[in-house]
Amino acid sequence: MRYIFLFFTTLLFVNTLTANESKVCKACHPIIYDEYYDSSHRNASIYNNPIHNAMWEKHPKDEDGYTCAKCHSPSDLEALETGVLSKNETQVHEPISCTYCHSIKDIKEGDSSNVNIVSDKKREYYTAEDGKKGKAEYEMESSWFGFVKEPKSSPFHKIDYDNENYYSGNVCMGCHSHANNEHGFDITMLDALISEDDKNSCVTCHMPQVLGSKVTINETKTHAYHGIAGIYHKSGSMGEYIDFEISKNSDGFSVNVINKSNHALFGQAFRQGILKAEIKRGNKTITLEPFIFERILAKDGVEVMPWEANEAIKDTLIYAKREVSFKEALQSGDRLNLTLGVQRISKEGAKKLGLELDKEFTKFRVLKNEVFNF
Ligand code: HEC
Ligand code: HEC
Ligand code: HEC
Ligand code: HEC
Ligand code: HEC
Repeated sequence: MRYIFLFFTTLLFVNTLTANESKVCKACHPIIYDEYYDSSHRNASIYNNPIHNAMWEKHPKDEDGYTCAKCHSPSDLEALETGVLSKNETQVHEPISCTYCHSIKDIKEGDSSNVNIVSDKKREYYTAEDGKKGKAEYEMESSWFGFVKEPKSSPFHKIDYDNENYYSGNVCMGCHSHANNEHGFDITMLDALISEDDKNSCVTCHMPQVLGSKVTINETKTHAYHGIAGIYHKSGSMGEYIDFEISKNSDGFSVNVINKSNHALFGQAFRQGILKAEIKRGNKTITLEPFIFERILAKDGVEVMPWEANEAIKDTLIYAKREVSFKEALQSGDRLNLTLGVQRISKEGAKKLGLELDKEFTKFRVLKNEVFNF
């Protein structure tokens, strides 16, 4: 009975809302909505992300206008089609909306970037769920000899479980594959390669199943995390996909950082990965010079803003793995403490973008910490 009541009141609510589509989803998917609202995807517009805003302010403008809309706010059709930006509901509440992601039908590969092919079917969404391939349409399931009817599947929309892109993670690649500047130079350097042999996908690593029902009707134990596990959230759990291997040598030791994901780490312009090493020897603590993983973009050998770059004068990103050497010989009894973390932007990047006052952007976010005893 509770369900029937809930169901009809929700339908009433749903039908009175037209703008802000994602809010409609909130009625039945409240947990997923709240996570999404706090995610980098909801925050991808210039109005919500000060780093993006600062970069766009400095970016040269031409008649194409705000070309970033293609990936940063594709749900704002005005900005997407005309390049003209305005602070509207979509930019603020759903620049990459629920329906946008769940309507990506296919990905067309492109030279400077890929293109999302979006389905024009209204209220029919794609998703992945093992064992559920085949379209689901709403029906009422009768129990108690027909006295109680409970909704099965969704009364608001159809679901298509047959789109392979949602199983492989390819659904993310329309925006994440590469973003080349005018000189054909990729400024995001994710360098991802999806293979059938991968144990994990973009979705299993960045949208893991966490506790809480995915929908109010039909309770489930878990749902796919829509806050996106990564830099903003759950960074500490991402270390699971990174290993440290230590080897001693004559004048010190080296750490082989092994990347178990299917892409390069820390490739976004101005981003930095940092490996800190500290040795506890007796009652002394020795702090070693940290190693920085980054890509410095340049033109004619001089560091420039990402849109001007045609080369990288430094590339210490972690592709499959990277060996980092430290010049301090390890002794018996030493405790080596390794911490790998990420900063959304480097201190130098913050200065270039005029963002050095807000410490949030250069905060060190721990991905992995491990102690080795010798
Ligand atoms: C009136 C309630 C209701 C509204 C509103 C609603 N949904 Fe749903 N949704 C459901 C139900 C019920 C399911 C089925 C869950 C199941 O089969 O276990 C579902 C399932 C889904 C699924 C597939 C989940 C799965 O793995 O089975 C997706 C994706 C989805 N909804 C997206 C959306 C989006 C996007 C919106 C907003 C545009 C939305 N929903 C609005 C009730 C709703
Ligand atoms: C082809 C898609 C695409 C286009 C076009 C694009 N971006 Fe991005 N951008 C991304 C993706 C994907 C990320 C996240 C990458 C990551 O975290 O590694 C991103 C991240 C960023 C970041 C880092 C944000 C942060 O908080 O760390 C900035 C800044 C940025 N983009 C600026 C721009 C600007 C300015 C434009 C337009 C001139 C633009 N982007 C156009 C896909 C794109
Ligand atoms: C960045 C793209 C993206 C956005 C934005 C997004 N989703 Fe999803 N969503 C996905 C993917 C991919 C899956 C498949 C997860 C899986 O296979 O477990 C998914 C799964 C789901 C599911 C099923 C959950 C489960 O555990 O099976 C529901 C329901 C859902 N999304 C609703 C929403 C709603 C509501 C919003 C907006 C508040 C939203 N999504 C925004 C990509 C997105
Ligand atoms: C095996 C787990 C795993 C898989 C699979 C995976 N990732 Fe990651 N991803 C990580 C880890 C670990 C990081 C580094 C921690 C961080 O920055 O969030 C990361 C970082 C990222 C970042 C931030 C990069 C930056 O500039 O610092 C983006 C964007 C990203 N992943 C997207 C994707 C996409 C798209 C896919 C699918 C092609 C994918 N990931 C597949 C584990 C994974
Ligand atoms: C419509 C384009 C688009 C799609 C589709 C998309 N992303 Fe993103 N993603 C972005 C943009 C733009 C950013 C950077 C937002 C910002 O910080 O300004 C981003 C940021 C990220 C980040 C880095 C920030 C963080 O939260 O750690 C990760 C990881 C990520 N996306 C994973 C995914 C995964 C996994 C998928 C597929 C399920 C996906 N994205 C689908 C556009 C997209």
